[in-house]
Amino acid sequence: MTFRTLDTADLAGKRALVRVDFNVPVDGGAITDDTRLRAALPTIHYLSQQGAKVVLLAHFDRPKGKVVPEMSLAFVAEPLSALLEQPVAFASDAIGPEAAKVVDGLENGGVALLENVRFHAGEEKNDPAFAKALAANGDVYVNDAFSAAHRAHASTEGLAHLLPAYPGLAMQRELEALDAALGNPKKPVIGIVGGSKVSTKLDLLRNLVTKLDYLAIGGGMANTFLHAAKIDVGASLCEPDLADTALEIIDLAGAAGCKLLLPTDVVVAKSVKPGVHAETRNVYDVRPDDLILDAGPETVKTLLAAMDASKTLIWNGPLGVFEVPPFDEATVSAAKHAAQLAKSGKIVAVAGGGDTVSALNHAGVSADMTFVSTAGGAFLEWMEGKTLPGVAALEQ
Ligand code: 3PG
Repeated sequence: MTFRTLDTADLAGKRALVRVDFNVPVDGGAITDDTRLRAALPTIHYLSQQGAKVVLLAHFDRPKGKVVPEMSLAFVAEPLSALLEQPVAFASDAIGPEAAKVVDGLENGGVALLENVRFHAGEEKNDPAFAKALAANGDVYVNDAFSAAHRAHASTEGLAHLLPAYPGLAMQRELEALDAALGNPKKPVIGIVGGSKVSTKLDLLRNLVTKLDYLAIGGGMANTFLHAAKIDVGASLCEPDLADTALEIIDLAGAAGCKLLLPTDVVVAKSVKPGVHAETRNVYDVRPDDLILDAGPETVKTLLAAMDASKTLIWNGPLGVFEVPPFDEATVSAAKHAAQLAKSGKIVAVAGGGDTVSALNHAGVSADMTFVSTAGGAFLEWMEGKTLPGVAALEQ
């Protein structure tokens, strides 16, 4: 894919409509993780320094086309302004006279945030009339919201057809990292896919086995694969209905030359409580009342050796119930090893998806990975090999 880049844009005095993802986690009205605000700063600073009037478009939560006061974006203006160290004007509507008044009042280099685009039904419908109303406040369009790029909405897709369109700096960095991981990776490539359920990651596994040299499956979803291979998983989380699908994925992997790494030993307990008595067992020795809660040391050793033999790693999903120690051990060991390899330039390590980011933060290694995507659904859809409408619309 080829894109225009921002450094080729003539920005002085222009109104830059910038789609950002400010769908931040909130508790009691306060932002609990401002990663998404910080991710937008380089693009905002750049545009502002070039003399553009920066007009931010974003969604928050899912108001479904209606004005829901609790889902207003007004609460973001102040923390954003503090991070930017400059004022952020807020408009109580994303389109119409309210928006125009605030945008017209901006000086070159000034920044405004417009109200939740999803307060209008036209946003999610990608209604051309709504996209046109948004476009009325811009001369150029910049999409810096990779994590919303799987949505074909007016502010993520429609606008790109109405104004000269550019990826923002965070979007550009994300696309480059993803390309290095799965588009044009240095081989061999290893994937780690974990998480609780196979059912949510079928398309992902089907796509990855055709592209990777090794695929390690961990977390609850590995139990379904063990069950399909006629290994008793006791009282563990398992989706027996998907046994045939798991076998189909095992076949696909075999045909494509992708070596599947399934657990050979596991850590079990009778309940999921911090500090509960845990034991390590060979997968063939799991007892009827055992809950498999983590991968065992032998499995981890095999995984680390496969990482050592690889040049690229792509990771989505934890290997165990990392939120409840001691069932974080496999995830933490694998994360530390990946980070060390990445830091010493031996591997390109790209990770993404909600739980994955928390797991890497828990292991304290996010900063050492080559790239950690904060996108949830968009990262998964991209790993599934799907075209993201918000990215495709930026293509030249
Ligand atoms: C996200 O939080 O993953 C993005 O902002 C997309 O939000 P959505 O799932 O409500 O479209």
